[in-house]
Amino acid sequence: MTQHLVVPARPAARGEGEPNAQRRTGWWREAVIYQVYPRSFADANGDGMGDLAGIRARLPYLRDLGVDAVWLSPFYASPQADAGYDVSDYRRVDPMFGELADAAGLIEDAHALGLRVVFDLVPNHCSDQHEWFQQALREGPGSALRKRFHFRAGQGENGELPPNDWESIFGGPAWTRVTEPDGTAGEWYLHLFAPEQPDFNWEHPAVADEFRSILRFWLDLGVDGFRIDVAHGLVKAEGLPDLGVHDQLKLLGNDTMPFFDQDGVHEIYRSWRPILDEYPGERIFVAEAWTPTVDRTANYVRSDELHQAFNFQYLATPWVAEKLRDVVDLTLEAMRPVGAPATWVLSNHDVTRHATRFANPPTEATQIRTAGDRALGLRRARAATVLMLALPGSAYVYQGEELGLPDVTDLPDAVRQDPSFHRASGQDGFRDGCRVPIPWSGGEAPYGFGPVTDGPSWLPQPDSWAELSVEVQTGDPTSTLELYRSALAIRAAHPALGAGDGVEWLDAPAGALAFRRTHADGAFVCVANTGSSPVRLPVPGRLLLTSGEEPVESGGEIVIPADTTVWWSL
Ligand code: GLC
Repeated sequence: MTQHLVVPARPAARGEGEPNAQRRTGWWREAVIYQVYPRSFADANGDGMGDLAGIRARLPYLRDLGVDAVWLSPFYASPQADAGYDVSDYRRVDPMFGELADAAGLIEDAHALGLRVVFDLVPNHCSDQHEWFQQALREGPGSALRKRFHFRAGQGENGELPPNDWESIFGGPAWTRVTEPDGTAGEWYLHLFAPEQPDFNWEHPAVADEFRSILRFWLDLGVDGFRIDVAHGLVKAEGLPDLGVHDQLKLLGNDTMPFFDQDGVHEIYRSWRPILDEYPGERIFVAEAWTPTVDRTANYVRSDELHQAFNFQYLATPWVAEKLRDVVDLTLEAMRPVGAPATWVLSNHDVTRHATRFANPPTEATQIRTAGDRALGLRRARAATVLMLALPGSAYVYQGEELGLPDVTDLPDAVRQDPSFHRASGQDGFRDGCRVPIPWSGGEAPYGFGPVTDGPSWLPQPDSWAELSVEVQTGDPTSTLELYRSALAIRAAHPALGAGDGVEWLDAPAGALAFRRTHADGAFVCVANTGSSPVRLPVPGRLLLTSGEEPVESGGEIVIPADTTVWWSL
């Protein structure tokens, strides 16, 4: 078992007395934002599916964990072809998650606890059951409603071939042919994701108007911000040009694509920002934008656009000191000129959990199908988190990572719901593994996830998760949960942690990285040993926290074990 220091109680935070998130202006510049995946967080009604009432009841847990804000993946009306990222009504809560009053109550309760709330906005596409799309199908070619989507005639003699060569991110062509009202095979429509997720045509003013209204709807309800789904996809290159290559998925993230990261998207965000700024209380936007470089990502967070963008380059960096140091430098350099905070993230609902990624040989792949060496993965995941929380800017934590959960790599095919699993050559077919309901308490499934009156949880939880529950880990100073609690408490209390735009690199032995952060009221040093053997260095200061065994000190030097990150105060 690993050990780490535990601060006795949550220490006085800067601006003590105010709720976690309301300490300073620019709260989002250093916020730790916790992602709740509503299907899998807590199930109040016992139908095996998480819900808003379940989340509401567990908000005190998040306050005590020490996060500043909660981001909820979509809970809107949806046929669930892509777990809610296929929205059929943007102003309605899906009955499986509750009703609008639950969303309003959740915001209210969170605010009373000092937590901010960020909702997911899905503007790139809707559900094929959305009223507009259904009407577009009914009205036929050339109709006004079809212009709100990307409908095109097919190629080939009888229009039997897709309008261009784009492939869906979930595998297969990005186009589906419709049957026209008269029963004939007709036009094709574009869907970058599943066929049940038609892309909106953002050149159409009605689309832009509708989303401005949707923003106001939730802002009026009191939400503190939005995570923008596929923020890089809304605008497509003029004329929808062929890409000329197959296996396009392999290019994602590295190359310029005619459907991603087009300059035109920025106009949309420049038109959204004033809406947010009209509302009191510093509401924010965070972009899910997979771009080829951090410099491209920085474009989304220019001062008149969005506040934050996920740093997927960091997420995809293997647990290797030099690579981590490089990506930290690149990130800070890219963000400095635009004045936006860097963000750091290791896990989310689309990638293999970092405890499993790091259990496998170093890779930049975000989807791993093998469990690997669990103990090693957990050890590295803990070290990686402690490193992440020491970096300047804002950090994202995905539900369950604070319990050290691995991906469930052996889910039976029959229970898998990820649409890309069921489509040819999808790259992300294994996302169910990180979406399994989290264990709260007790020795048997569903481990306090819900009362189970109607059957098991929507994805089965492994037997081994009894020992990973919140209940088991609470109060155990060696547990991952207590490590997160300690790290977040220290982060909130230490003047040199949180916001900032630079680190001062220190000399470090091979395989390790070390940096200092300074503030008028105190300095801080972090050392991460990513290597497989211990490293030695002069004692930098007063030990604050370690992700592993307590480092041994002798003769003014300290030995940091393999795969361990340590914090000191100077
Ligand atoms: C984003 C979401 C992912 C979803 C996709 C399509 O990448 O995070 O879960 O499948 O968009 O909406």
